[in-house]
Amino acid sequence: MSETPADKNQPTNESTNIVWHDGEVTRGDRASVLGHQGCTLWLTGLSGSGKSTVGVALEQVLNARGVLSYRLDGDNVRHGLNANLGFGADDRKENIRRIGEVAKLFADAGVVTISSFISPYQADRDQVRKIHEDAGLKFLEVFINTPIEICEQRDPKGLYKKARAGEIKGFTGIDDPYELPTNPEIEVKTGELSIEQCANQLVDALLKHGILKAL
Ligand code: ADX
Repeated sequence: MSETPADKNQPTNESTNIVWHDGEVTRGDRASVLGHQGCTLWLTGLSGSGKSTVGVALEQVLNARGVLSYRLDGDNVRHGLNANLGFGADDRKENIRRIGEVAKLFADAGVVTISSFISPYQADRDQVRKIHEDAGLKFLEVFINTPIEICEQRDPKGLYKKARAGEIKGFTGIDDPYELPTNPEIEVKTGELSIEQCANQLVDALLKHGILKAL
């Protein structure tokens, strides 16, 4: 099974007179080629919380284990696919909707997809979960739970400083909301654990959810 009928029922908005075209190679066929299923690990948290750093470390571990993974990262995706979006609530919602659909396609392709976006709104994260679950794809919400004081202290891009100085308006955690995940599968505390430990926590979760096999 590659897609479920539910996928075909997603609102199509402006697209009319379109007909779903099934292929002959199934998701299971692709998993046989790769030796594992795909899924999406959805890393959410404040800017500077460590989402990208943990994602990069996890990608290395997975690659070394022979698992095909791919990172989708907020700052990177906003250089291309989502370059036309800003940081107002509607644009953040559209950012997450688009990347949620991309993550679903990667997961369907068989890739362990590591997505790192602030994704500040629970409703948007829930919608991404829904499109995965409706398609029979595993979705693990990972709360990168780093206190804002630590994020601000790290300030790797100097953006908290700018936000405090009023040079950036609507900065998440300063003058824009971040809704805490209500029921994440995994919580990672980058302020307390090493990056390696954080990445291993995610590997353990992938083992527990049957995506990875023990070595
Ligand atoms: S999201 O809110 O729409 O999910 P996303 O993860 O794509 O955000 O992008 C966040 C990155 O954009 C931050 O890590 C930071 O580098 C940069 N950025 C620029 N302006 C803002 C802002 N107003 N709020 C948060 N991040 C911002």
